[in-house]
Amino acid sequence: MTTGKAITKAVIPAAGLGTRFLPATKAMPKEMLPVVDRPAIQYVVEEAVKSGLTDLLTGRNKRSLEDHFDREPGLERALELKGDKDRLESVQYASELGPIHYVRQGEAKGLGHAVLCAAQHVGDEPFAVLLGDDLIDEAEDLLTTMMEVQQKTGGSVIALIEVDPAQISAYGCADITAVEGEDYVRVNSLVEKPAVGDAPSNLAVIGRYVLHPAVFGILEETEPGRGNEIQLTDALQTLAAGEGEGSGVYGVVFKGRRFDTGDKLSYLKAVITLASERVEFGEDLKTWMKGFVNS
Ligand code: G1P
Repeated sequence: MTTGKAITKAVIPAAGLGTRFLPATKAMPKEMLPVVDRPAIQYVVEEAVKSGLTDLLTGRNKRSLEDHFDREPGLERALELKGDKDRLESVQYASELGPIHYVRQGEAKGLGHAVLCAAQHVGDEPFAVLLGDDLIDEAEDLLTTMMEVQQKTGGSVIALIEVDPAQISAYGCADITAVEGEDYVRVNSLVEKPAVGDAPSNLAVIGRYVLHPAVFGILEETEPGRGNEIQLTDALQTLAAGEGEGSGVYGVVFKGRRFDTGDKLSYLKAVITLASERVEFGEDLKTWMKGFVNS
């Protein structure tokens, strides 16, 4: 049984084409797009570290990602000479979050394939997957809760949110049953991006997973699905329906704040919301926005 093996590893896939943000993402992964003053992926790395995960693995199709989390002696020296302590600290902080390991996905063959590329590094242990498109409010402890549910159930755990039924076709969708006396649910089945009329519920999968390593064997056998990509949702559906070791999928229904940076409009909303909460300029920004809207 893998149940009980501590969870220490986080896989943060970052090898997509970023087509929705072209041309900004031509030479830079979309996970490097700034959200106020940090690249989106740094929020996700910080969340993983805060949840106690110490071994981080991400994709490396573009150098900028690796450089961001590495030391930058020239820049550090220049800031030191200027006496710019705050900026120096912010630059050094990003390189102290690690250790971060990198794996090349080669081709963008889907989220399931990206997770499969991590198999060797993860080995036979449960592990977390965090998608850079979803930013979870720093005040929340969703991932920690999911890790606890994984340890308790020995299966795989997904995060779900309730969405407007008209939006469900943008997400993986879960059919669930409540588990008496528990704050998690059992996932009966999953379907990737169903048509609105075919969706079994309005519960959408968001980008946090805590997976049993049995998922790797399943992913190896999973045929390309929606969009001709190897879908993580399809592998989880197999685990939800299966009975062997590592089968069983559970869900944590998240009610807290989540910021979607996956498309242009929601990205802009995320940036404005988070910027308006910054002590240094949040109030000024809100005052300006009121005037802007009224003008
Ligand atoms: C992926 C998953 C989907 C999930 C979504 C959450 O889709 O395949 O099941 O609902 O992330 O952000 P993507 O948004 O990468 O197309």
